Amino acid sequence: MSDAPRIARKSPYPVEVAKGKTYFWCACGRSQRQPFCDGSHKGSGIEPVKYLAESSDKIFFCGCKKTANPPFCDGSHTKA
Ligand code: FES
Repeated sequence: MSDAPRIARKSPYPVEVAKGKTYFWCACGRSQRQPFCDGSHKGSGIEPVKYLAESSDKIFFCGCKKTANPPFCDGSHTKA
């Protein structure tokens, strides 16, 4: 069984991603370098979500970790 994800913050993280670059979104909420994984999920049973940027764009990564569409914000923080 895995621990519950922690709310990193109740708003998304806007990030300018670079085409062709891979990112690992923190799903557990424990990372000190949000919204990305720093390895702090170890032992929580939660794994980061890999995201490959298909174009250079501004992405809103989920901060509350309750999104139904990880790693993207889906507005769930308004209910978190
Ligand atoms: Fe949260 Fe890795 S630190 S998923």
